[in-house]
Amino acid sequence: MDFRHLKYFVAVAQERSFTRAAERLYISQPPLSRQIQQLEDELGLKLLDREARPLALTEAGRFFYARAVRIIEQLDETVTMTRRLSQIDRRLVIAFVPSTMYGALPRIARLFRARRPQVPLVLVEKTSVEQIEALKAGQIDVGFGRIRFDDPSLRREVLREEPLVLAIPSEHPLAREAGPVSLAQAAAHPQLVYPRKPRPSYADHVLSLFRDLGLEPAEVHELQEMQTALGLVAAGMGLCVVPASAQQLRRDEVVYRALQEPSATSAIIMSTRLNDQSDDIVLLRGLIDEVYRLQAAEKLEAERQAAAQAEAAALTGPQRG
Ligand code: BEZ
Repeated sequence: MDFRHLKYFVAVAQERSFTRAAERLYISQPPLSRQIQQLEDELGLKLLDREARPLALTEAGRFFYARAVRIIEQLDETVTMTRRLSQIDRRLVIAFVPSTMYGALPRIARLFRARRPQVPLVLVEKTSVEQIEALKAGQIDVGFGRIRFDDPSLRREVLREEPLVLAIPSEHPLAREAGPVSLAQAAAHPQLVYPRKPRPSYADHVLSLFRDLGLEPAEVHELQEMQTALGLVAAGMGLCVVPASAQQLRRDEVVYRALQEPSATSAIIMSTRLNDQSDDIVLLRGLIDEVYRLQAAEKLEAERQAAAQAEAAALTGPQRG
């Protein structure tokens, strides 16, 4: 039995058809059928129920399939990491969900490029679900996403829980007051959620925040992108729960209010391959902490300046003519 047998069997199991699997593997059908037959002969059992339409896996086939997928993933990972260690293919590919671009990511990327100019840095946009597959296939090295997935071959770390805010059309009754607003108040109005697919996504996270409180939004409209959802908020079509960092996307027609519920947060999650502790990833992780420290110091300084200005204004008192 060799690696090709596993690859061929996985293709047939996924396609549920010898014809489609042969097309996918760029071979003709007879050698594919022969390889699967050899595999079954060597195991001394049937992996496929050939009578079923579409083709089905036997119980042994299902077990063998799960193990074969894992072996193929491990081999892909071994190739990627060996290339990376030997510096042939040295570069760092980071996938991110769009909203992280309004957070710390641009600053982290800038620092990485300054500290390691010899390593090309590639940034690609991918949803949280897509990041998991791309990590396992060796297409990316790091994923910054917002949805938790359990996968034994990946390492996952929650970097922070980002507060969520409610984006409201400026003419809306909820925009007349300042201060935190509740999810119950929000649920009485149409909600715009994103991305529509692949699921589960940030849209499901937001909907489960409502449902955990026994709330069902009046109407839900699904969009593919945050920018589109915020455009529709500006058009007065509904409200949208977004990460606080999205407030940078200021537009005159949209007002942002904090949410009252402590549960109204969204995790920023860093995912890597389980055993990938390359220098570049270690440096990247260190830079994240450095940027968080810088941001905390800048926030303190801004608060100090605001307090000093308020104090000076109070001392001066109202100017009389
Ligand atoms: C953040 O905003 O905390 C963040 C975003 C992307 C990568 C790392 C951190």
